Amino acid sequence: MTLDLQPGLTFGKVQDNDDVADPEYDLTRTEELAFFLEMMAGPPRAPSVDAEAEAEGEVVFAQVGCDLCHVPVLDGAEGPVALYSDLLLHEILPADHLGIEEASAAMREFRTAPLWGLSATAPYTHTGEADTIDQAIRLHDGEAVTVRAAYEALTDAQRDALLAFLNTL
Ligand code: HEC
Repeated sequence: MTLDLQPGLTFGKVQDNDDVADPEYDLTRTEELAFFLEMMAGPPRAPSVDAEAEAEGEVVFAQVGCDLCHVPVLDGAEGPVALYSDLLLHEILPADHLGIEEASAAMREFRTAPLWGLSATAPYTHTGEADTIDQAIRLHDGEAVTVRAAYEALTDAQRDALLAFLNTL
């Protein structure tokens, strides 16, 4: 789907080599599509199973520093959006992992994955190599290494509370 060059909006190619004349899309339709996407609701929170543990887990989430990247709420077009991401690029891959260079993202940079709907979206990370939320957290390295260490240093009860909270998102 190609669009004429629009500063701050288009990236990559503005022409392709299929049989459809370029641009295939115009700015008005792009804005309508963006409006439609802005009006979509996020996934609903999962039902609470153990309210006390989940509330404690939310506190642990901030205490260990998950919220440095997984920012709980950002401003959306229609008000606050609880997506649990800063939507920014970070380098958190373990040293033995390869990445992929794309547009302004360097080889080992990935966007903070939103945590909404987490209980229904396994497997985790861009490779899908983590079957569980715990495995996904233990794969955090690089910029997130001290936060991972704080996670690993939690008591079993604190870790269970954090996972209970994450499973409600
Ligand atoms: C320095 C930034 C940073 C910090 C701190 C951080 N994360 Fe992440 N997190 C990321 C990025 C970037 C990804 C995407 C990694 C990928 O796709 O390979 C991610 C992915 C995840 C995923 C996988 C989500 C999915 O849908 O695939 C989970 C779960 C997660 N983080 C939980 C946590 C928790 C819990 C903490 C705190 C213990 C934490 N993260 C701390 C940046 C961070």
